[in-house]
Amino acid sequence: MSEKAILEVDGKRYEFPILRGTENEIAIDIKTLRGATNGIITFDPGFKNTGSCKSAITFLDGEKGILRYRGYSIESLAKESNFLEVTYLVIFGELPTVEQFKKFENDIKEQSLLNEEMKNIIDGFPKVAHPMGMLSSLTSALTAFNPATVDVTSENNMYDAVVKLLGKFPVLAAWAHSKNKGTPLNYADNSLDYISNIMQMLFKVPTSQYKINPTAVKALDQLLILHVDHEQNCSTSTVRIVGSSEAGLFASIAAGVSALWGRLHGGANQAVIEMLDEIQNDGGDVEKYILKAKDKSDSFRLMGFGHRVYKNFDPRARIIKKAADALLAELHVSDPALEIAKHLEEVALKDDYFVQRKLYPNVDFYSGIIYKALGIPSEMFTVMFAIGRLPGWIAQWKEMRLGGEPIGRPRQLYIGHTERDFKNINERA
Ligand code: ACO
Repeated sequence: MSEKAILEVDGKRYEFPILRGTENEIAIDIKTLRGATNGIITFDPGFKNTGSCKSAITFLDGEKGILRYRGYSIESLAKESNFLEVTYLVIFGELPTVEQFKKFENDIKEQSLLNEEMKNIIDGFPKVAHPMGMLSSLTSALTAFNPATVDVTSENNMYDAVVKLLGKFPVLAAWAHSKNKGTPLNYADNSLDYISNIMQMLFKVPTSQYKINPTAVKALDQLLILHVDHEQNCSTSTVRIVGSSEAGLFASIAAGVSALWGRLHGGANQAVIEMLDEIQNDGGDVEKYILKAKDKSDSFRLMGFGHRVYKNFDPRARIIKKAADALLAELHVSDPALEIAKHLEEVALKDDYFVQRKLYPNVDFYSGIIYKALGIPSEMFTVMFAIGRLPGWIAQWKEMRLGGEPIGRPRQLYIGHTERDFKNINERA
């Protein structure tokens, strides 16, 4: 028996099919709504109730705090896999075999070289430019050096574009950092793994040898796994909607970087550490900041708290909190920011305001403490998030293009003037 949803407007009834996902999620298919009702649309600012696509990449249940990539729990992937393997999984659908993994890793390495002319673009930025702005521009600029359109129907063509982007993106991220620091632009060292390379490109200077710290590499690897995909969030929806106009892969990803930059999205990780520093410099009075966050006349929000879909603990935050504790202990670092964060969490989770609104720590609440312990400056936190999210953006772009989705183009409820007569400038009051 087919399931249906009934809508009644002005005494007329309309029927719409019900769709069910593999995890029994239910959606009302309103594709025919406007045509059938002669112009009625749905109204859903921020798309809080709108499914924009079917997707087989990530499942998350915000009420239960579940997150899985391609069916594998985030907990098992964070514990047993590595970033590049998870990258392969989300983009191609299955975990790689040994041969597939080796080839994938090598192919990415081969693509890590950038056209030297890219350095002219870096030169054009002021030293104080935010690295997210630089990363977005540089990613977009990759199109100029790789103008051929990706033929999404060709597996080889698609694969080449994927490894090219995965190879070059971390180099661009590291170059944005070097621009800020005034240090030479490093290239990858293809004898190293993906994560070690990110570290050495960020930190190596010509005057001394850079020693890879395996503890730091492992921590960063795990952190990036947790960021790989999160279904139709702001930046991913941006990538899909830009790509839906058949804009190229690099241009779509550049748009995703810009969307991630905002402090209500990926930019929250930088905002969290700045907030923790501010609380510390202000004497460490956590309760004062909880009161500020609850005060509707104050624009202050507890950064790293709350989430559009998690109305329970963000499962990534649980893993990151433990990892932050372990990393600081292993590196023998003591960071007052971690103590303030824990205190803030403890107070907030007992406070009615946060309890009633189901506001829990999200992925960004503790990640900055790990980045800080790794020596990464706060303005680079969101760039690190972008490196982690890149595989998800690619997977979603590929799925969208292969699925033949129509161009994204929402409707609106017009609330402006009705038609009025034009007045000459001298007749205007
Ligand atoms: N501090 C204080 N109050 C908050 C917070 C917060 N961090 N987050 C939400 N609220 C309150 C709102 O004021 C609102 O209260 P009201 O019902 O009395 O008006 C209620 O909780 C619901 O908040 P919305 O903004 O409607 O929730 P929405 O789902 O639209 O926003 C968001 C989610 C943007 C993440 C929000 O919780 C927020 O601003 N958090 C801080 C920024 C942050 O950490 N962003 C990272 C998210 S994770 C990521 O993108 C990777």
